Amino acid sequence: MSIKFPEGFLWGGATAANQFEGAYNGDGKGLSIQDILPKGLRGPITAEPTDDNMKLIGIDFYHRYKEDIKLFAEMGFKVFRLSIAWSRIFPNGDDKEPNEKGLQFYDNVFDELAKYGIEPLVTISHYETPLALSKNYDGWVDRKLIGFFENYVKTIFTRYKDKVKYWITFNEINSALHSPYMSAGVWTPKEQLSKQDLYQAMHHELVASALAVKIGHEINPKFKIGCMILGVPNYPLSSMPSDVIKTMQQDRENLFFADIHVRGKYPRYMDKFFKENNIEVKMEPEEEEILKNTVDFVSFSYYMSSCATSDTDKNKKGEGNIISGVPNPYLKASEWGWQIDPEGLRYILNQLYDRYQKPLFIVENGLGAVDELIIDENGNMTVNDDYRINYLNDHLVQVADAIEDGVELIGYTTWGCIDLVSASTAEFKKRYGFIYVDRNDDGSGTLKRYKKKSFNWYKEVIAANGANLKEK
Ligand code: BG6
Repeated sequence: MSIKFPEGFLWGGATAANQFEGAYNGDGKGLSIQDILPKGLRGPITAEPTDDNMKLIGIDFYHRYKEDIKLFAEMGFKVFRLSIAWSRIFPNGDDKEPNEKGLQFYDNVFDELAKYGIEPLVTISHYETPLALSKNYDGWVDRKLIGFFENYVKTIFTRYKDKVKYWITFNEINSALHSPYMSAGVWTPKEQLSKQDLYQAMHHELVASALAVKIGHEINPKFKIGCMILGVPNYPLSSMPSDVIKTMQQDRENLFFADIHVRGKYPRYMDKFFKENNIEVKMEPEEEEILKNTVDFVSFSYYMSSCATSDTDKNKKGEGNIISGVPNPYLKASEWGWQIDPEGLRYILNQLYDRYQKPLFIVENGLGAVDELIIDENGNMTVNDDYRINYLNDHLVQVADAIEDGVELIGYTTWGCIDLVSASTAEFKKRYGFIYVDRNDDGSGTLKRYKKKSFNWYKEVIAANGANLKEK
């Protein structure tokens, strides 16, 4: 097969404000939940921002955005995914008036992208709830957050209505089930959080997301607004029928979020789940109507697949992203234990398209690895990251297959196109980028940028619209 990507396919890269902007308290920004989470997912939460928190400085995109966007343009990016830090716009989340300096920063970034014809893809909330909303309201557990979010989205949609077309409401909304603090700003420790409050918090986010779709389309009918899930397809560990049923159930745990976003109502299978778990989601009368504002596209991150089994002895979770499952004996894993499965990407693309018949967008994919900076024969600092090139090549070949299968795909943005701080472990040494940033976990480094070998590789892939990818 010769590899073909559609005309106008959006090639690019993805980031999140809290993992790369830095300037955590600059120009009126309030603290976000990340500013007191120095070691990532598994805590601890500190009383104040501490120097060992790599996110406080990030890679200083806040001051270096021009240089970075120039490099993205050199690679030929058609799209760049970034998030707006909510607490840069509303420092406490519940403020009445926005912070003009924060709004101006994103104006500058969008203008810079426009200079090079790069389309912004904006995540409205990417693991960076304003800290005050977390502490004072227990994050999304409180229904009031819907109103604060409404105010926030109205502000940014109005301000950027002619600069941004593609929006994502919540990053990996399904991850809140596993990481309620990071994903939904829930202050109550996970072990003490009842399932009732957890699903109520999720309900509030789902309503807020649908409300954002409604408001966005009113402000600019041309907006394309999508949902996003953390995509981890599940395979049955064996062909035992009960493993297949378990797989279906495990899939539903993730997909129910996208089901609501696409179908505008709760799926019937959740009735049973809620009943069995004594959960009664409280829904205000108007919320049923709000949920009917369905998304224009479905986006997802993809790093790994996992297995499901009904056998309790074998049901032992492996390493992995926020969501993980039983390791697949046929797959190898990355240095961080995330199982590498290019065909899983073709599988989930087909699964989501069969289920939703909506355009899809892969908004994260990539390999987190330790890179070694070397001097090449021309005296330039670089990284020979063939492992990253192979990983991305193999995944993109499967993407091309999925497109041939009939999947409608808007674009593909690799995660951390420029090195940034890891979300799960808050390490800097877990690098994903085409661009190396000189920064180390002890805080040392010049923050200088260097092109890795993959930089030119991706540039060539984009220029050829994927035609030069190598099939096995
Ligand atoms: C996704 C998140 O789950 O995975 C990103 O949306 C995150 O924020 C990415 O950075 C990669 O995970 P990690 O833990 O390697 O940074």
